[in-house]
Amino acid sequence: MQSGIAASVTAGRALTITGPNGAGKSTFALTLAGLLAPVEGRVSAAAGLAAGAGADPFRWKAKQLIARIGTVFQEPEHQFVAGSVLDELMVGPRHLRRGTEVVDELLARLRLDHLAEANPYTLSGGEKRRLSVATVLAAHPKVLVLDEPTFGQDSRTWAELASFLTELLDAGTAVVSVTHDEEFSAVLGGAELRLGSTRLKAGAA
Ligand SMILES: Nc1ncnc2c1ncn2[C@@H]1O[C@H](COP(=O)(O)OP(=O)(O)OP(=O)(O)O)[C@@H](O)[C@H]1O
Ligand SMILES: [Mg+2]
Repeated sequence: MQSGIAASVTAGRALTITGPNGAGKSTFALTLAGLLAPVEGRVSAAAGLAAGAGADPFRWKAKQLIARIGTVFQEPEHQFVAGSVLDELMVGPRHLRRGTEVVDELLARLRLDHLAEANPYTLSGGEKRRLSVATVLAAHPKVLVLDEPTFGQDSRTWAELASFLTELLDAGTAVVSVTHDEEFSAVLGGAELRLGSTRLKAGAA
């Protein structure tokens, strides 16, 4: 197991996690996202992000977590819980007792409006990816963690994701991406953390 890994996630900055298959990128990303307990070391949320919930994201309640850190899984199906695209998008806002206006915006923005009544499992790979990003964004998290978001996407979805994430960065969201896509990490900018190699670059300052 690789040790001595450190990364900082900063508002309005991108952090890209790279490395070969099996290097631990997904495990590291899920740990940063508060979904896995650290095997070693700790994840500490700054006071501005924790906002009274405590410094350890793994101990946050589901409601506290989704409003702070949103995770887009490597396999989109792993996060689908509802029977339709619309209900899937409503999960976050309903759970947080927030308005659902954002859902219409996301449906349009991610070209899912004609699929509102469809079962998420019946969507194409690109549509599933766009839905998985949209459901997480519906909760307005301050930190977004995406595991291989551009894998298998066509150039249109790729460009839409890149421009949407760039806007979110400009608006102050922290964007952590696990990716093998060098063009994508170049567009997002920020810092790179390379796992599975001795050539470790530091995380964002
Ligand atoms: N509980 C565990 N105990 C030991 N090893 C584990 C455990 N859970 C996962 N692993 C191993 O940790 C390694 C890292 O897995 P992970 O999914 O994080 O890699 P990855 O870098 O995301 O790979 P990929 O590029 O294929 O998605 C894998 O080899 C996996 O089998
Ligand atoms: Mg992985």
